[in-house]
Amino acid sequence: MGFKIAVVGATGNVGREILDILAERAFPVSEVVALASRRSLGQDVSFGDRTLKAKDLATYDFSDTDICLMSAGGDVAREWAPRIGAQGAVVIDNSSAWRYDSDVPLIVPEVNADAITGFSKKNIIANPNCSTAQLVVALKPLHDAATIRRVVVATYQSVSGAGKDAMDELFSQTRAIFTTGEVQPGKFTKRIAFNVIPHIDVFMEDGYTKEEWKMMAETKKILDPAIKLTATAVRVPVFISHAEAVNVEFEKPITADEAREILRQAPGCLVIDKRENGGYITPHEAAGEDPTYISRIREDATVENGLAFWVVADNLRKGAALNAVQIAEVLINRKLISPRAQAA
Ligand SMILES: NC(=O)c1ccc[n+]([C@@H]2O[C@H](COP(=O)([O-])OP(=O)(O)OC[C@H]3O[C@@H](n4cnc5c(N)ncnc54)[C@H](OP(=O)(O)O)[C@@H]3O)[C@@H](O)[C@H]2O)c1
Repeated sequence: MGFKIAVVGATGNVGREILDILAERAFPVSEVVALASRRSLGQDVSFGDRTLKAKDLATYDFSDTDICLMSAGGDVAREWAPRIGAQGAVVIDNSSAWRYDSDVPLIVPEVNADAITGFSKKNIIANPNCSTAQLVVALKPLHDAATIRRVVVATYQSVSGAGKDAMDELFSQTRAIFTTGEVQPGKFTKRIAFNVIPHIDVFMEDGYTKEEWKMMAETKKILDPAIKLTATAVRVPVFISHAEAVNVEFEKPITADEAREILRQAPGCLVIDKRENGGYITPHEAAGEDPTYISRIREDATVENGLAFWVVADNLRKGAALNAVQIAEVLINRKLISPRAQAA
């Protein structure tokens, strides 16, 4: 039994990763179609040991597609997700366009897989922001154990979170600094090579950025509306994987040893936490990997029931492509969809 899968944004960072992950996990496909804009018509993209030619989203007929994995930005998602959903395919969208819609489930399978059942209202399921996905994977088991009251997060987000052009900008600026010494900011507001920028997405009226707001709103929707969260989102000159310094205040007491043990048993988490040189995970080591890594777990004696820790994951995988494919697996494993071609 195989499903017909369309990947929209297949020539982009997340889309390519989706194709890799579908192949790696031997996802039950009958056919995979790569879609992008007209600019990429005919461009080759890899799917396992096969090569697919990109087709134009604007002229594609979705009437026999089962699942559409979409990562082509908010504008494309706003326009196309309802149209594709109306043709009967279930859209799993990576942009922020649908995340806050009350008729659209926002899912991280390790955390709130049961919330998926509402998907049929619009045939759209949203994938959270990359920095939220890894955070809630680590917070969920601790919340179950000791009830989170407040979270303070500082993120260290890689440039791949801003798309393939942003990766090129870090590469070309880094090279330019060693040759001509001149750099031109393009995608980023300031030089990103050998620098850090405390600004991701647009500014909101209250002084937070939209990236910081997303983390707060999405954590509430996925995990618990009672959790208070404040974030500072920072772009760093790293190609892949986001890191987060997390500080949590709980309702009930919880020790660092208890947290370490809980996280060791938790789905999607991998604890690497030795109090010695190199006894923690950095973004470089998490790139290309599936787990959400947790290191540097310690008690914060400045608040009641406080813990501090370090969370790292590959933003293109758990932060986007892997999470989207896991959502598709939930649909199939729970028999919430069946292949349309077979039903016909
Ligand atoms: N990168 C991350 O860590 C991450 C994490 C979570 C969510 N997301 C979200 O995922 C989405 C894609 O991110 P990305 O990093 O993969 O971006 P990207 O590397 O810039 O790729 C964008 C993709 O969208 C396609 N596209 C753009 N405009 C289109 C149109 N009008 N019609 C059809 N296809 C179009 C592009 O096709 P062409 O090549 O033809 O232009 C390309 O395949 C964004 O919404 C982003 O916010 C990203």
